[in-house]
Amino acid sequence: MSKSIIFVCLGNICRSPLAHGIAENYVNKNNLDLKITSAGTGSWHIGEPPCENSIKVAKQNGIDISSQRAVQFTKNDINKFDYVIGLDDSNVKNIKKLGQEKVLKLGDFGFSGKDVPDPYFFEGFEGFDKVYEMIEICVKTLLEDITKNKI
Ligand code: 4NP
Repeated sequence: MSKSIIFVCLGNICRSPLAHGIAENYVNKNNLDLKITSAGTGSWHIGEPPCENSIKVAKQNGIDISSQRAVQFTKNDINKFDYVIGLDDSNVKNIKKLGQEKVLKLGDFGFSGKDVPDPYFFEGFEGFDKVYEMIEICVKTLLEDITKNKI
């Protein structure tokens, strides 16, 4: 049976949509039996598309995330996914507070446990390419670990 992964940040408009798009692209290219989605712990942006700069940096890397729409990670999502992946420490904490026991942190996969910086308050596009690069490395490492049954 296919395994499921949800990437969770705060707003589900900047970081987790990138992880979602990058992972989906990797899954399709490598014909993997994995279901990918994303969410935010906050409710402010429910129903909105990803932020302009995330759409732009993904597009520059050949990935279209413009049709994604933000959803909130709630108590109803507890234990529904095989892998729940927070983008930073505060995301992990917020998810655990809702009752989810097993939560992994994206930066633990190839990035020494670092937080993916929140680009919501970045000025302009600068910095989004670094965020993209970090998410790309971590998502690939995570998916390799999953396909090799390491986690
Ligand atoms: P994200 O960025 O968690 O990467 O989607 C944010 C988006 C919105 C807010 C904070 C972070 N906000 O406070 O509305």
